[in-house]
Amino acid sequence: MTKDLMDQIGILEAVRRVYRSIPAGAGRAMAERFYTPATLDTLPGSAVEWSLGVADPVSHARLAVGERVLDVGCGGGIDSVLAARAVGPSGRVIGLDLLPEMCERSRAAATAAGVDDRCEFREGPMEAIPLDDGSVDVAISNGVINLSPRKSRALAELYRVVVPGGRLCFSDLTVEGDLPPEILTSDSAWAGCISGALSEDVLAGKLDRAGFVDIEIFGRAPFGIDDVALPAVHLRRARADA
Ligand SMILES: C[S@@+](CC[C@H](N)C(=O)[O-])C[C@H]1O[C@@H](n2cnc3c(N)ncnc32)[C@H](O)[C@@H]1O
Repeated sequence: MTKDLMDQIGILEAVRRVYRSIPAGAGRAMAERFYTPATLDTLPGSAVEWSLGVADPVSHARLAVGERVLDVGCGGGIDSVLAARAVGPSGRVIGLDLLPEMCERSRAAATAAGVDDRCEFREGPMEAIPLDDGSVDVAISNGVINLSPRKSRALAELYRVVVPGGRLCFSDLTVEGDLPPEILTSDSAWAGCISGALSEDVLAGKLDRAGFVDIEIFGRAPFGIDDVALPAVHLRRARADA
């Protein structure tokens, strides 16, 4: 079975449409699966409420003071704010998102968190990152790479913008086996990071071909259909109301 049952432009448009129409993020209950309550308490409420990720990549990225970080698919800004704190005033965080609405949410979160002096948010696709070669030390991403219908291209772009010797630290869902066609062709399942999920082996192969070396896996957590119910409910409600 081919995984690419929807064409690339159709997938990108479906992802754009769904994220544009959701009225809220996954909320604090979901965020508490990935971040400690103590961490969440230090963040602007909007960043927590708009959290839509699947882990806490910043906690594994070993960010150092002064580093330049790209947060791909920054959404409501939760990881951009955490990264901005980690790199300090001498560092820099660039949040990139397909949607201007998400960039605006991240911008507001950075301002509310008092880290806007080192943050900037740009609208653009991960498949054509609007940054020069080697312009960041670290790229982070949380629940975003799965959304790309052109993952090899997105990974090549990430490789291009990270300085030689730099790092990519991301989290996403992976799958074991094939997903059924009704999932592969569902807009909501694409936007929920499910339909675009690869097996760990296939993902590792793509990372390798993009040029990344020394791949480390920091953790695996089982994710079943009940676990995606919360964001799926948001997506369904948004589509029904739209
Ligand atoms: C699942 S949300 C994750 C948001 C954020 N990383 C977090 O952890 O809360 C996915 C985000 O990626 C953005 N996105 C989707 N496709 C994209 C693309 N091709 N390029 C850049 N951003 C994209 C969406 O607009 C959305 O903000």
